[in-house]
Amino acid sequence: MAYNLLKGKRGIIFGALDENSIAWKTALKVHEEGGSFTLSNAPIAMRLGKINELAARCNTSVIPADATSEEDLIKLFNGSVEMLGGKIDFVLHSIGQSPNIRKGRSYGDLNYEWYLKTIDISALSFHKVMQTAEKTDAMNEWGSIVALSYIAAQRNYPDYTDMAQAKAMLESIARSYGARFAKLKKVRVNTISQSPTRTTAGAGITGFDVFYDFANMMSPLGNATADDCANYVVSLFSDFTRLVTMQNLFHDGGFSGSGITEELVERLSK
Ligand SMILES: NC(=O)c1ccc[n+]([C@@H]2O[C@H](COP(=O)([O-])OP(=O)(O)OC[C@H]3O[C@@H](n4cnc5c(N)ncnc54)[C@H](O)[C@@H]3O)[C@@H](O)[C@H]2O)c1
Repeated sequence: MAYNLLKGKRGIIFGALDENSIAWKTALKVHEEGGSFTLSNAPIAMRLGKINELAARCNTSVIPADATSEEDLIKLFNGSVEMLGGKIDFVLHSIGQSPNIRKGRSYGDLNYEWYLKTIDISALSFHKVMQTAEKTDAMNEWGSIVALSYIAAQRNYPDYTDMAQAKAMLESIARSYGARFAKLKKVRVNTISQSPTRTTAGAGITGFDVFYDFANMMSPLGNATADDCANYVVSLFSDFTRLVTMQNLFHDGGFSGSGITEELVERLSK
């Protein structure tokens, strides 16, 4: 059911690679709720992914941008304001990648060049997005900016290696830039700490199926799906959450508040 929660709002959605992507599902929901937006992804991902198919469904266009490139981001923000016919009300940063994870490096054998790439793509890009939004004066007052995080920012997950530091930094950037943007433009900035979700990025982590099942058993409401996450993002883009800022918001079916569950006790007692 649609409520037109985002009618008249304009935005940019980063990170839709294929129909499993959290950004893909979010784009569809935002479209359903009346928001208009441009889609963006790294030029290489655009060749591999199906983003043009999504753009057609959402009646919009794609503006490629490597989120680590300030030059690309300036073109993206200016192009989006022009294409959408006004300033931006919402931004979704749904971007993550670790070359160390992709190449199967353990935490004691990290390649530092790749480590820096992980940080640049998965965390620093969030700062670059916001600094560009500020410098191009692209944001409307009371806008909302959201990035996606994971609980490995707070707790150790051995196979998440350098992405754990990237997520910790991402959440920290949300607090620092959130304070700044609030004063400048009343813009709010939050991260959503999402349950394990079956996407290209998610499934790339060694042992994903095991910690997906574990999280599901540890979450009284079960794991939050990508569709649930899309709904949550819509609520954060809507006018119903205007005073929520500088938060890392757990969207995980209760996982982060659980010590142990009966389901898990039963499983481990067998
Ligand atoms: N899947 C999970 O289990 C899970 C859980 C919590 C948080 N997250 C986070 O959700 C976000 C979205 O991931 P997803 O699970 O939808 O997977 P996904 O693989 O569909 O999306 C990741 C996106 O990042 C994009 N990207 C990579 N490098 C880029 C660059 N240099 N510039 C621009 N874009 C770039 C990719 O092209 C892709 O579209 C990520 O931040 C991820 O860490 C995922």
